[in-house]
Amino acid sequence: MQSFLPFKTMLPANLFFFDVMVVVILATAAPSVSGQRYDYPTANLSTRWVNNAAAEHSVTYSDGSAIRAIVLRSPQTSYGPSFAAGFFCAPPCQAFLFAVFIVYTNSGGRITLPVNGIPQVIWSANRASPVGENATLELTGEGDLVLREANGRFVWSSSTSGRSVAGMEITENGNLVLVDQKNATVLKSFDYPTDTLVHGQSLLQGMKLRANTSNTNWTESKLYMTVHPDGLYAFVESTPPQLYYNSQVIPSKTSKDPTRVTFMNGSLGIFVHSTQPGSPDASITLPTAKSTQYIRFESDGHLRLYEWSGGEWTMVSDVIKIFPDDCAFPTVCGEYGVCTSGGGQCICPVQSNSNSSYFHPVDERKANLGCAPVTPISCKEMENHQFLPLTDVSYFDVGQIIKTAKNREDCKQACLKNCSCKAVAFRWYGQNDLDGQCQSVTEVFSLQSIQPETVHYNSSAYLKVQLISSSSDPKQNKMKTILGATFAAITTVVLVVIIFIYVRRRRKYQELDEELDFDILPGMPMRFSFEKLRECTEEFSKKLGEGGFGSVFEGKIGEERVAVKRLEGARQGKKEFLAEVETIGSIEHINLVRLIGFCAEKSNRLLVYEYMPRGSLDRWIYYRHDNVPLDWCTRYRIILDIAKGLCYLHEECRRKIAHLDIKPQNILLDDNFNAKLADFGLSKLIDRDQSKVVTVMRGTPGYLAPEWLTSQITEKVDIYSFGVVLMEIISGRKNIDVSQPEENVQLINLLREKAQNNQLTDIIDKHSKDMISNHQDEVIQMMKLAMWCLQNDSSQRPSMSMVVKVLEGGMSVENCIDYNFFNANSAISAQGNPSTYSAPPQASVLSGPR
Ligand SMILES: *[C@@H]1O[C@H](CO)[C@@H](O)[C@H](O)[C@H]1NC(C)=O
Ligand SMILES: *[C@@H]1O[C@H](CO)[C@@H](O)[C@H](O)[C@H]1NC(C)=O
Ligand SMILES: *[C@@H]1O[C@H](CO)[C@@H](O)[C@H](O)[C@H]1NC(C)=O
Ligand SMILES: *[C@@H]1O[C@H](CO)[C@@H](O)[C@H](O)[C@H]1NC(C)=O
Ligand SMILES: *[C@@H]1O[C@H](CO)[C@@H](O)[C@H](O)[C@H]1NC(C)=O
Ligand SMILES: *[C@@H]1O[C@H](CO)[C@@H](O)[C@H](O)[C@H]1NC(C)=O
Ligand SMILES: *[C@@H]1O[C@H](CO)[C@@H](O)[C@H](O)[C@H]1NC(C)=O
Ligand SMILES: *[C@@H]1O[C@H](CO)[C@@H](O)[C@H](O)[C@H]1NC(C)=O
Ligand SMILES: *[C@@H]1O[C@H](CO)[C@@H](O)[C@H](O)[C@H]1NC(C)=O
Repeated sequence: MQSFLPFKTMLPANLFFFDVMVVVILATAAPSVSGQRYDYPTANLSTRWVNNAAAEHSVTYSDGSAIRAIVLRSPQTSYGPSFAAGFFCAPPCQAFLFAVFIVYTNSGGRITLPVNGIPQVIWSANRASPVGENATLELTGEGDLVLREANGRFVWSSSTSGRSVAGMEITENGNLVLVDQKNATVLKSFDYPTDTLVHGQSLLQGMKLRANTSNTNWTESKLYMTVHPDGLYAFVESTPPQLYYNSQVIPSKTSKDPTRVTFMNGSLGIFVHSTQPGSPDASITLPTAKSTQYIRFESDGHLRLYEWSGGEWTMVSDVIKIFPDDCAFPTVCGEYGVCTSGGGQCICPVQSNSNSSYFHPVDERKANLGCAPVTPISCKEMENHQFLPLTDVSYFDVGQIIKTAKNREDCKQACLKNCSCKAVAFRWYGQNDLDGQCQSVTEVFSLQSIQPETVHYNSSAYLKVQLISSSSDPKQNKMKTILGATFAAITTVVLVVIIFIYVRRRRKYQELDEELDFDILPGMPMRFSFEKLRECTEEFSKKLGEGGFGSVFEGKIGEERVAVKRLEGARQGKKEFLAEVETIGSIEHINLVRLIGFCAEKSNRLLVYEYMPRGSLDRWIYYRHDNVPLDWCTRYRIILDIAKGLCYLHEECRRKIAHLDIKPQNILLDDNFNAKLADFGLSKLIDRDQSKVVTVMRGTPGYLAPEWLTSQITEKVDIYSFGVVLMEIISGRKNIDVSQPEENVQLINLLREKAQNNQLTDIIDKHSKDMISNHQDEVIQMMKLAMWCLQNDSSQRPSMSMVVKVLEGGMSVENCIDYNFFNANSAISAQGNPSTYSAPPQASVLSGPR
């Protein structure tokens, strides 16, 4: 059987983002002639430019920054942000970079001076060693681009001599390239990113974005962002590097191809092991571009998206979010600074009640610059090492765990024995602090004070401090006394803090469900108070829909639109709730609706999900809203999205997860009709070793696989339901539709009949001319795939990864399909109400008609 429609051809728009063609027209640098564009995107060999205010395209901005452009490509059509390369300086304009920057040009292509449109540097060659006035840049006859100071001192070169460079050019998307005679790229600035990405630019595995130290000091700071085979990571440099953010994807394929992260319009796409265009394996959603955008990795460790709007650059998104708040960024309070949650204030780790402290602020007036030990830690006097304990304080890096130390004492001892250990943080979940995690820290960046009930773990930090040796110094005895007093004081402080926190927490705890203290790892969903959710949904006023377990309301948390699902207490037991939170919270995939947070207060159970603007699939395929029929391409993409989401649940996440309630109501659509699976309330985790589990019958009539009747349930039930959904998408009706003539009420029965009589075209959605006339063959193939999924014998059904392969054109549908699929749903639907189902059907119904 023919495979059909390779996936690649479905999304031509994506091709735009890859390997942006370098169109070199070496002869276009036309000087300005009235009526002609003022554009100079290329430069030839043996040209030398002097960094001088008298240079041809020299512009000084209102804030004092200046540029001297060498190549510039203005927008093809009109005025707006343009990419240029040349010299750049920030006020007071003594140090210059050779850089690529975005300037604003008028409709004639000339650089103009919008009041707030200061040029934005997106790449630079010499960030660590800026040059001065009269420095030179030369594209030598050998094809090397060389930057020198006015006195001839060498600063930077492209090291391309002998590689037959023929010219330099700036591309439409801001890539500075050196090209050879054949227009082939010899070197491009996109391969050496600094701290910024522009549309179409990729960060490949191994490349780094490095934040600059500050606005005025452009040298690389310790923070960097990089791509590993399984996703995007951000670290602060130390030995070993300390991880503070990652956006991990579980790779579905293995290959030697590098993983990359590409800045696309509307997302940061993560492409695992893929050099081919196609859809990303995961992505970080961004606001779609209304104009030119760039993303900069900044000196505070944030990744921010900027957009040109209303005559200035505005920050439109703080791209990486870290749980629970900004205190989890590594340099938020400098070294050794403690960030207090919520307020975001910085304090030095001090002992109150005592004048002696082990740390002092680096700058009294700027608390966020951090703290330094009063006595530096010396490896020569390890016997004088002690710990300063900090209760309810945690450390961001969970990368260095001392596995052998499970309890607090072992953890501290392990650190005392190793001089490169500067602190430990001991983290435990639940009551048992004898079985926790010992994080060792070799270089102490910001610490954060935590509220255990928010983050769902307890943590204490122990900072290593150096005591002054007691022998010679007369101060020593005093020191000793102080220390004695100090440790008594510490104990008191710790007690006071504990009591204080206990009292503060008590109120909250009284409201909390006593059994709800389950373990949640960092990065897991946030816990919200009921009050907060009531507020953000405007008292649950905007109802989005109703599902088997409760109603869904629209809400807004900060700027983010969310969907708040209020589970009905009576029916949603605690067990299911915990399962749902734990299950959904731990998995993330582009085709699965993201759980943002939850609330569990008294009998209230709420889940906060990302908002899906186009609602559920049933609204679109059953023509509930007189919508125009979806075209085949959209339906195809939706099917593929569902398949990928399910495939992830079944085969790719750490614990195999069966959804058990696949139906159009549980498939949600975003603005672009990307489909995501929702509602894992019925999920049962299936152990990888144990392929079958026995479970209470669940799900929705119409979508139930035959084996529900025998209680031998595997994830293959989802594949059956997927088959039903597939048929519904193709035929534009519900599986069980009582408004149809009696013989047609059941779509699956109808399918069997039509398949046997070779009349499959009869059941294609009549609304869609596109499907009937333009894509009939593909639709028939899709029905065959559906029938494969609907096989009675669950072992005959394909796995979800096979389904994805078929959909992507890598495999064809099995030939020996048994058309005699039994429809379990006919039995159950007889009971009427097809929307919810909670009790197992009666025996007589179970053995009903065949
Ligand atoms: C580059 O060289 C070509 C001829 O090889 C010439 O036509 C063009 O004007 C030159 N461009 C510049 C900017 O000098
Ligand atoms: C740069 O060169 C120009 C002309 O060669 C000279 O007049 C000027 O003083 C120089 N500027 C500096 C800062 O050296
Ligand atoms: C460079 O590319 C342009 C357009 O693609 C083409 O017209 C030109 O002939 C090419 N130049 C060389 C030297 O191949
Ligand atoms: C810039 O920052 C680096 C450390 O990040 C520092 O070593 C250097 O002295 C700073 N330069 C200036 C001019 O402040
Ligand atoms: C980005 O996408 C949006 C909608 O998808 C579109 O309106 C906009 O023009 C695009 N922007 C750019 C810069 O391509
Ligand atoms: C350095 O970083 C700051 C913010 O992180 C940014 O505003 C500034 O433009 C950067 N400077 C350069 C030359 O990239
Ligand atoms: C702390 O120092 C101040 C003066 O610097 C002194 O008045 C006070 O008594 C000291 N407190 C303790 C607890 O030593
Ligand atoms: C000391 O700690 C460092 C960093 O955690 C580790 O690499 C090293 O192996 C440790 N040394 C010993 C002897 O345990
Ligand atoms: C924190 O530890 C205390 C005492 O061990 C325990 O009662 C509490 O449940 C823990 N909290 C969390 C969130 O783990």
